[in-house]
Amino acid sequence: MTEQSVPAVFTRILPLLTHAPEQPDFSHGYLDLLGDQPEQPAGPVQSFWESDLGSNLYDHAQSLARRMLPTWYRLPDRTRPPTGGRVLDIGCGPGNITGKLGRAVGPTGLAIGVDVSHPMLSRAARAETAGNVGFIRADARELPFPDGTFDLVTSVAALQLIPEPHAVLAGMARQLAPGGWLAVMVPTPRGGLLHQALTLFGDRSGLTFFDPAELAECLHDTGMKTVHTHQSGPVLWISARQPA
Ligand SMILES: C[S@@+](CC[C@H](N)C(=O)[O-])C[C@H]1O[C@@H](n2cnc3c(N)ncnc32)[C@H](O)[C@@H]1O
Repeated sequence: MTEQSVPAVFTRILPLLTHAPEQPDFSHGYLDLLGDQPEQPAGPVQSFWESDLGSNLYDHAQSLARRMLPTWYRLPDRTRPPTGGRVLDIGCGPGNITGKLGRAVGPTGLAIGVDVSHPMLSRAARAETAGNVGFIRADARELPFPDGTFDLVTSVAALQLIPEPHAVLAGMARQLAPGGWLAVMVPTPRGGLLHQALTLFGDRSGLTFFDPAELAECLHDTGMKTVHTHQSGPVLWISARQPA
């Protein structure tokens, strides 16, 4: 990829990074901060999302989830980002939520999607990159921005795949500017058949099944003041506000 084909949005994103690389790699349409670091998918489900097949099938999984569980993709109203605001979407997958958030904050705002999966990011970059929407390959466990950078941090259906999710959740909260909102959704059929079966057969899925109170406590511990949880079937949304 030539210098000219670097998506323009990165002139706005690079200055925000804690450590901007000297020779940024945009060869796949997104900024790759992990390069050749060996991928160690945290379990078979994440391994699938990192494959070409999993990424392609994800569209079908999404449209099924949208029909069967409409609350899946609906961020709580209170977390709506301001026009001109900065948004970080962690575990963005194919990037359609990131794109939608970019439209919500408008051209003066900025929406950045972060994921570890090459195939997911390639699709996200192709379909959703815009003057105010860009994608980065980075790990949620080591976010590349300084604390206090964003007005909204969101993560939809990703935290359950990531090891040490409480530390990751606390890291997401730290990315918020004063008064910023966190909106995290985890599918968590805790106590359901899937959970029981995995528990019974020795869980090697790499998935975490959360308890709403446990997530709320984790956010209170980070100093977040307003914490809401809402469970609708297996869909658990948690939203919290950084004190202004
Ligand atoms: C089920 S998909 C959800 C995608 C999207 N948020 C949505 O709701 O359509 C989960 C995504 O989380 C990503 N993911 C898993 N572990 C991650 C990590 N440690 N850092 C960043 N992304 C991660 C996966 O690669 C995958 O794209």
